[in-house]
Amino acid sequence: MNDSLEGRRALVTGGGRGTGAAVVARLRAAGATVLATARSRPDGTDGPFVTADVTQAGGVDTIVREVRERFGALDVLVHTVGGSSAPGGGFAALTDRHWRDELDLNLLAAVRLDRALLPDMAAGGAVVHVSSIQRRLPLFEATLGYAAAKAALTTYSKGLAKELAPRGVRVNVVSPGAIRTSAADALVARLAAAEGLGEPAAWERLTASLGGIPLGRPALPEEVAELVAFLVSGRASAITGAEHTIDGGTVPTV
Ligand SMILES: NC(=O)c1ccc[n+]([C@@H]2O[C@H](COP(=O)([O-])OP(=O)(O)OC[C@H]3O[C@@H](n4cnc5c(N)ncnc54)[C@H](OP(=O)(O)O)[C@@H]3O)[C@@H](O)[C@H]2O)c1
Repeated sequence: MNDSLEGRRALVTGGGRGTGAAVVARLRAAGATVLATARSRPDGTDGPFVTADVTQAGGVDTIVREVRERFGALDVLVHTVGGSSAPGGGFAALTDRHWRDELDLNLLAAVRLDRALLPDMAAGGAVVHVSSIQRRLPLFEATLGYAAAKAALTTYSKGLAKELAPRGVRVNVVSPGAIRTSAADALVARLAAAEGLGEPAAWERLTASLGGIPLGRPALPEEVAELVAFLVSGRASAITGAEHTIDGGTVPTV
């Protein structure tokens, strides 16, 4: 048992920046051939990349076609894409459009990609869906739709794991607390604007509303990527259907 991913064919969604980009780099370092995907390819990135919007059926079709042409089938699928662009203002500010956007990005993109790609994944394959501790600790200022969509993603992932385990395909969830990415900074900027606060105060308020971070800092994208790389490797060959929290101790309960 080692963490080599030599010869493994992997797809990483949300692979352009933040946590997804760190996962791409980590899996490549372990020897995997990785196809990254996002709506845009950031300048200076290298390696196989497909641009597509995972919230659109056509975007999912583009990714699926590219996977089949390049790889035939996948050994590893890491679904990192997710996030929220809903406005502040609490539950009453969320329109049907906001709810649909949160569900499309944080739940249905994974559902659609899995449905297309997992029937071809052979025994030994591994899937990771990135959820959030908000599925257990929902915030209501701006991200209630996001939290509910992540809860659905975690529940869906558990059922999927049970269905695929007899085929030798493992499915796990990684649930981060705060990760220091540009997306987290953007969320804080929106909260700061909505509440009339400075950004440091909004960061404090955000982490305080989750109960604080006992380790005293958000995780780095590379730390989340390390957990993902472990879960898709042979070292985790008996682990499936589990949610793995990486939050510096934020979730206060067992
Ligand atoms: N950051 C946190 O504090 C935190 C906390 C808990 C959980 N999480 C979860 O961790 C995961 C990664 O978060 P992150 O903060 O690292 O993300 P991020 O920095 O915002 O990166 C998101 C990536 O997804 C791509 N993307 C966004 N919308 C897309 C779409 N509609 N179609 C295709 N690609 C799209 C982005 O590129 P383009 O914009 O070019 O498409 C980018 O490459 C997410 O599932 C998030 O919910 C994050």
